[in-house]
Amino acid sequence: MKQRTSTLLAVAALTAALAAHAQQPAKKASPQAKAAAPAKSDISKEFEKFREVLEEDNPAELFEAKGEDIWKNKKGPSGASMAQCDLGLGAGVVKGAYVRMPRWFADVGQVMDAERRVVHCMIKYLGYKEEDIRKQPFSNVNKTPDHVSVITYVAAQSRNMKIAAPQKHPKEVETYNIGKEIFAYRAGPYDFSCASCHGADGMRIRTQDLPNLRKPAEAIRAYQGWPGYRMTGGFMLTQQWRMNDCFRQQRFPEPSYLSDSITALLAYMTVTANGQVYKGPGIKR
Ligand code: HEC
Repeated sequence: MKQRTSTLLAVAALTAALAAHAQQPAKKASPQAKAAAPAKSDISKEFEKFREVLEEDNPAELFEAKGEDIWKNKKGPSGASMAQCDLGLGAGVVKGAYVRMPRWFADVGQVMDAERRVVHCMIKYLGYKEEDIRKQPFSNVNKTPDHVSVITYVAAQSRNMKIAAPQKHPKEVETYNIGKEIFAYRAGPYDFSCASCHGADGMRIRTQDLPNLRKPAEAIRAYQGWPGYRMTGGFMLTQQWRMNDCFRQQRFPEPSYLSDSITALLAYMTVTANGQVYKGPGIKR
């Protein structure tokens, strides 16, 4: 938490610069057509430089602290707490859990990604209401919901650990395969799939470089820096938000929050990134 003021000033300055380039639906997007563009846009390079400075003192820490407080101190209606929550490594164990999801959870008979599991526990043990969470699943300038802070805390407890999403249980393998299929599935008004924008090297929309998520070295970008502090707005966004926004990019109907198809896509991308080091919650523009 050093240099908080200077960081926030830097964030404000870059925010203004980036606002003009804020992500918009790719209206006339033809990612293939841009594939021949030079490797990285100037604004992307500029952003990378800022990110390195900012990640030293990431405002995500504020949300991490709030999430930690909820995880450790909040009690549910019957006195239950997150100490009973099993993220896959045993009740109450947070360290290293984030990089080992999505995984099979026998208690619910489902493969769950981290966000889904955390929300499940907050409902089960702390008495949060599912319908309230569904009312505002993602952050906006007015509010970063509690579950997003808890996810940020859980993610931070896997900082500098290797991604190791398991592929042992048959349902874990099945979920990965479904995710792989969804990734390649073309439909909608532009006949796009995820792969249309993220299935080849060097693609770009406007100033945004699009990772080739089929390659391990770039699939890490589905993970790295998420949850991310969004500079254009000043709030935290999760992987689930990223997925919904890409469904929008793709002109597909937005999936409902915590749906099976998102878990499957996350399983596909996470397993592809297995073995790489997760550096923790980050900064996104
Ligand atoms: C029309 C193009 C388009 C389609 C189709 C699309 N995306 Fe994206 N995707 C984007 C853009 C633009 C970004 C933002 C890149 C940035 O922030 O620099 C992005 C970012 C991402 C990121 C985060 C990368 C990072 O560096 O943080 C992930 C993960 C992702 N997309 C996954 C998907 C998945 C999964 C699908 C299919 C459901 C999909 N995308 C479909 C355009 C698309």
